[in-house]
Amino acid sequence: MSQDRRRHAEATLRNREPILQVLQSILPVEGALLEIASGTGEHAAHLAPRMPKLRWIPTDGDEDAVESIAAWRAATGSPNLDAPRLLDVREEDWGVNDLDAVLCVNMIHISPWECTEALMRGSARALKPGGLLYLYGPFMIDGLHTAPSNERFDRMLLMQDPSWGVRDLGAVTDAAFAAGLVLEGQVEMPANNLSVWFRRPPSA
Ligand SMILES: C[S@@+](CC[C@H](N)C(=O)[O-])C[C@H]1O[C@@H](n2cnc3c(N)ncnc32)[C@H](O)[C@@H]1O
Repeated sequence: MSQDRRRHAEATLRNREPILQVLQSILPVEGALLEIASGTGEHAAHLAPRMPKLRWIPTDGDEDAVESIAAWRAATGSPNLDAPRLLDVREEDWGVNDLDAVLCVNMIHISPWECTEALMRGSARALKPGGLLYLYGPFMIDGLHTAPSNERFDRMLLMQDPSWGVRDLGAVTDAAFAAGLVLEGQVEMPANNLSVWFRRPPSA
């Protein structure tokens, strides 16, 4: 795969290290992680080599994105980074199970709400008991934006597609709970984003 298929998203350069710090504090050292909506593949290419005992499975619902992820993977050469898979989060069968973690960065506000619900249902199915779902992105809290920049971003998203928009953490937590996942933690991240993680209860 030619490396010139690699796409670049500027924000990944700014958020990848803060995301790594959080992941290293909440993920098991070993296991299997499925990334939903890997986009360019830059997070996978940066994070997988830094967590070398974790098998990292990148995916995206867009074919061009999958090509970019494959090109970043080829450039990285990290043995724990799988070939990317074409996967729409709304598919009933993700083709994986017994996962230790699912990771989804910056997708739920750039897709219809049904994708958030599908992410929760799919994660609850694919995670092993005790497994963890990690989300990163902007959130509203109690129906309010946490910063003027997030409010402007939300208006821009809605103009682009009325089914998109910054999600309320309460609604996301409710969708997770309905699927069988429990909110475990959240931490403020740079640029008014949040890291939020949910767990499939060990006995479920
Ligand atoms: C803003 S990009 C974020 C990409 C990457 N996670 C990042 O932070 O750079 C949103 C990604 O979500 C993907 N996406 C949107 N809807 C999806 C769906 N229904 N299933 C899977 N991926 C989807 C898009 O193809 C795109 O790559």
